[in-house]
Amino acid sequence: MGKVLVIHGPNLNLLGTREPEIYGYETLADINDMLQKQAAAHGISTDFFQSNHEGDIVDTLQQAQTKGYGFIILNAAAFTHYSIAIRDAIAAIKVPVIEVHLSNVHTREEFRHKSVIAPVVMGQILGFGVDSYFGAMAVAIRKMKQKLN
Ligand code: DQA
Repeated sequence: MGKVLVIHGPNLNLLGTREPEIYGYETLADINDMLQKQAAAHGISTDFFQSNHEGDIVDTLQQAQTKGYGFIILNAAAFTHYSIAIRDAIAAIKVPVIEVHLSNVHTREEFRHKSVIAPVVMGQILGFGVDSYFGAMAVAIRKMKQKLN
């Protein structure tokens, strides 16, 4: 029916062992597996990309347009707070982006309170641990279905 691209930014490859009291015990593979199943139950396919490199995320966002994704779920991790290049890439494409964070960045250090990508995404879901991703996927699924009707 459609496809969703999930992009994970820097250090999210370490989920499971990285500060689990903040980010939880699920690994990135666990999260991707659950997201794939959630989408597949609605006939939607998923692709996953993780990178620690800003330019690779910019390239992937640009390519999402031509590859025909209906939605992008993006946890830009630390890049959220300062990457104008990622913000501009989101603004340059027509594919809607949902911004996701595992932690509630607003209850943490002040430098995490600002998201430079917030003005160019469709919306944000944050602070629910892995459920932030599942909430974002639920939104993507519903919106893609509505578009078909
Ligand atoms: C994060 C929050 C960011 O501030 C942090 O740099 C991350 C993960 C989250 O999912 O809570 O790497 O995006």
